[in-house]
Amino acid sequence: MTPRRVLVLGGTAEARALADALAAEPGVVVTTSLAGRTRDPRLPAGEVRTGGFGGVEGLAAALAGVDLLVDATHPFAARMTEHAAAAAARTGTPLVVLRRPGWVEGPGDDWRRVPTTGAAAATVVGCGRVFLAIGRQGVAEFLAADAWFLVRAIEPPDALPPRSTLVLARGPFALDEERDLLRRHRVDVMVAKDSGGATEAKLVAARELGLPVVLVDRPPLPDRVRVRDDVAGVLAVVREQPSARPG
Ligand SMILES: NC(=O)c1ccc[n+]([C@@H]2O[C@H](COP(=O)([O-])OP(=O)(O)OC[C@H]3O[C@@H](n4cnc5c(N)ncnc54)[C@H](OP(=O)(O)O)[C@@H]3O)[C@@H](O)[C@H]2O)c1
Repeated sequence: MTPRRVLVLGGTAEARALADALAAEPGVVVTTSLAGRTRDPRLPAGEVRTGGFGGVEGLAAALAGVDLLVDATHPFAARMTEHAAAAAARTGTPLVVLRRPGWVEGPGDDWRRVPTTGAAAATVVGCGRVFLAIGRQGVAEFLAADAWFLVRAIEPPDALPPRSTLVLARGPFALDEERDLLRRHRVDVMVAKDSGGATEAKLVAARELGLPVVLVDRPPLPDRVRVRDDVAGVLAVVREQPSARPG
């Protein structure tokens, strides 16, 4: 039987879980692609390649011999997701997007949804002490916002707001750690991205402490892409997917 070759665009916990599952799947050869942003990333089972493809053109070339492309990138990695849809359409490669559901506000939550990180920056002006829990990339949008910031990221941002403290840490974080961090820094408001998945402890801590959360909405998905919201859903697609090459 000709193996089915699956290329997983990764960088998330569920991409890693998917690759681990696919590596154990008979007749499947899985390669995970990482952007290479994180030093010392947690690696999945199967083959791993690292670094950008060089735009749609480069990704289309990399799809030669690939039977199924899985976009399991983070919901905010919008550029890679656009490129995946464009390269799949151009080469006729089947594509499935693995996208965990977004978060839903519950009793006790005080969330203000905004469409972009820039809108979040405008919202927190004059809000006092702001916990920026959005990773390193969006921090640039807050450089001119008049507030004090607690910035948490895995790696240092290129620049920090003039009044800020940087905490370098990699999640997941426990509830008591989050509660302690918010109290210690006397945080007034939190900014987070609607990454989705299991409700993160920082949101629970904000709810407990009665803190408002400015939640940045996800960028929209490209039109007409097939989406599954968990690893099992993508595995079902892989199992239905024949090899495009003769056996
Ligand atoms: N954005 C977030 O909040 C976030 C959070 C957690 C994890 N991540 C992960 O971090 C990576 C980078 O995120 P981003 O927001 O910078 O992406 P992005 O803005 O959508 O992509 C920018 C460029 O990075 C390259 N790239 C992104 N993901 C790649 C992958 N899996 N394999 C190879 N190249 C990739 C592509 O370069 P070329 O055009 O040269 O191909 C892409 O055009 C993604 O893999 C994502 O899953 C992102």
